[in-house]
Amino acid sequence: MTSESWSPKSWTTKPINQDVTYSDKESVQSALQKLSKLPPLVTTHEIANLKRSLRNVALGKAFVLQGGDCAELFDYCNQDMIEAKVKLLLQMSLVLIWGANMPVVRIARIAGQFAKPRSSPMETINGQTIPSFRGDNINGFDPTAESRRPDPSRLVSAYFHSAATLNYLRASLSSGLADLHSPLDWGLGHVITPSIKEKYERIVTRVKDALRFMQTVGIDTDRGVETVDVFTSHEGLLLEYETCLTRLLKDPTGPSSSVQHTIPAVGAGASSGSGVPSASGSGKSYYATSSHFLWIGDRTRQLSGAHVEFFRGIANPIGIKIGPSMTPVDLVTLLNTVNPTKEIGKVTLISRYGAANIASHLPGHIAAVRESGHIPVWQCDPMHGNTRSTPGGVKTRRFEDILSELRQALEIHRAQRSFLGGMHLELTGEAVTECVGGAGGLTEEGLSERYETFCDPRLNEKQALELAFLVAGFYREMEEEGGEGVNSI
Ligand code: PEP
Ligand code: CO
Repeated sequence: MTSESWSPKSWTTKPINQDVTYSDKESVQSALQKLSKLPPLVTTHEIANLKRSLRNVALGKAFVLQGGDCAELFDYCNQDMIEAKVKLLLQMSLVLIWGANMPVVRIARIAGQFAKPRSSPMETINGQTIPSFRGDNINGFDPTAESRRPDPSRLVSAYFHSAATLNYLRASLSSGLADLHSPLDWGLGHVITPSIKEKYERIVTRVKDALRFMQTVGIDTDRGVETVDVFTSHEGLLLEYETCLTRLLKDPTGPSSSVQHTIPAVGAGASSGSGVPSASGSGKSYYATSSHFLWIGDRTRQLSGAHVEFFRGIANPIGIKIGPSMTPVDLVTLLNTVNPTKEIGKVTLISRYGAANIASHLPGHIAAVRESGHIPVWQCDPMHGNTRSTPGGVKTRRFEDILSELRQALEIHRAQRSFLGGMHLELTGEAVTECVGGAGGLTEEGLSERYETFCDPRLNEKQALELAFLVAGFYREMEEEGGEGVNSI
């Protein structure tokens, strides 16, 4: 655990992976100055609400569904695509509420999921070796050396595209997009198979009956059952950007303050030894205000690296991706570093080992974390350990591998008396053809039909909803010990 003092820029003294080198330093400075003056994109109250919800997930009282694009593009900032993604998350969460029989917290990979870590900084296209595409807030996708040059003005564009996306998201949610009285208006795409459609409509009927009953007996309130929250998230990769939007803000008061956590300042009363200058006396903490939830990627979670340094100082709930290269000892050291006071649900551990590797890694990680006394949210990302290439060189994922990793995660957690609190998916509301399998039987030959991702392959609407039904079924099977399963809706 480190006790060195923390500031939003203390990461700059640490070694950094996936760094961006800009040729025009002056433009970088003016972009960062501009960002530092712009208002927060999210509020501390919203962050506190998410924290409270994630605490419930860590304690086994709620489930978290996180999903969205691998790489969000500025072009995705349009009404249809935002609505399609949000509706899909709402539909999936309704299915999961029914299946897991508990509230579902929704976090979208949206309004800022622009920066991508890459395994190789360069790639060769049509015989020309050029920098890899690193996300819309760094460089352009067009395969030319000019477009791939990191452009600092994209940092400011990222802010405004996030703001526009978030604005529409908030406006549509508050105007009834998520009204639980009319979930059929969330629109199932025409590609959904009849059996899934039928199951979904039966769940909707049950939800509507329940709401009607509540209304009849007078417990249908204006907020609460009529609309739901959708939180935003992205990988906190581009630390210059995150630093500019990290602000020392007053901690929210009221009910949410019970889960807010402030660490005493070094030298100001009792010190946690974390060196984070968020003073409980002043009632202020540093909040990353680019998003409600940020996570550290599997490639940037080095214990003494810049990203871990940045993340240990922010008051937001945070995620950490953990893959096969993580050792149980390092995992506990990392938790102690980013969450020295062991705040429940502050950290979401997003496991992504792959269907073939999960059984040899997850049990050891669960045991070490339990032994340490930390109570994180355990979330399964069944996407990133299951990426493969077709013989023709197309990057894809198999639905069966995704489902298998999820099922194994549930079984392993259950066997260890731990709680799998959520899933983290790459998905889109569009009818793309990027992952193979599922009820629609998409084959490798069919991939080229609508292969549109700019990074990893995503589940399409049909595959995502089908997955939600299957996972809901697993929870039901477990709860009812072989009783009513997903097929008996
Ligand atoms: C991602 O979530 O898009 C990603 C790059 O994941 P990971 O860090 O787990 O590889
Ligand atoms: Co990805």
